[in-house]
Amino acid sequence: MLITGASKGIGAATAERFFYADNDVTDFILLARESEEFEKLIARLGGDNPHGKKVYPHFIDLNDRARIVGLMHDVMNEAGKVDYLVNNAGYTAPSALQQIDFIDFERTIGVNLYAPFTIVQELLHCGNTFELIVNIASTAGMGGRPGWLTYGASKAAVINMSEAMKDELSIYGTRVVCISPGRCATDLRRTLAPDEDPTTIMQPEHVASVIDMLASDVGHLVDSQNLVVRQ
Ligand SMILES: NC(=O)c1ccc[n+]([C@@H]2O[C@H](COP(=O)([O-])OP(=O)(O)OC[C@H]3O[C@@H](n4cnc5c(N)ncnc54)[C@H](OP(=O)(O)O)[C@@H]3O)[C@@H](O)[C@H]2O)c1
Repeated sequence: MLITGASKGIGAATAERFFYADNDVTDFILLARESEEFEKLIARLGGDNPHGKKVYPHFIDLNDRARIVGLMHDVMNEAGKVDYLVNNAGYTAPSALQQIDFIDFERTIGVNLYAPFTIVQELLHCGNTFELIVNIASTAGMGGRPGWLTYGASKAAVINMSEAMKDELSIYGTRVVCISPGRCATDLRRTLAPDEDPTTIMQPEHVASVIDMLASDVGHLVDSQNLVVRQ
């Protein structure tokens, strides 16, 4: 299982959900930049490993396309196969239209759209066939909101890209599901809504449980263009 944005929030909750379950997911390729939070997660998984699973952490800036290409070859050498891919990493710096810095717009598209595309394409080039790809978009991609232009546009593109992936990869037996979470208590949400009380909204574990369901036998019954997950 490969999870991007695994250092915290929804990605970390998903990693822990699958790691601590007695299931057939034995190897975890976890991607994020170097941080204290990521180090703590890696240490936690290493120190409490009831089912003897393997964790392969990789520090990477997903805005660096060349590094993603190289890393996917390393991942294939290391793990041999990626059955479950969770394209979860996300970035936003909300800004009014007049103040949008174009470099930041490029970064938003780079992390939110080009990175998941590149991961899927490179692993396909390496001969990988996925069982399940989960792309995390957002309800922000389903309608424009003031100040969220770059983020919303990137997520709208993820929703659309997922539909094309779903159709193109069905011949390999790959299921592609796009999830659009609503408000979820994470650092990213705090960036978008700094005054909100995080205890009143959906928690990362809730989204992780939906991803878990998608990977289960019941998940095969979900045939969705864009699965909205919100409280
Ligand atoms: N929270 C919400 O309300 C909400 C709603 C809808 C959709 N989403 C989506 O859910 C996904 C997970 O976000 P979250 O809410 O769990 O936020 P989060 O806790 O802030 O986590 C974001 C993750 O993305 C990673 N990331 C960001 N920029 C990166 C970069 N340049 N290179 C590598 N990794 C990078 C972060 O890793 P680093 O440690 O490297 O920063 C972190 O692991 C995102 O796609 C987000 O858009 C969230």
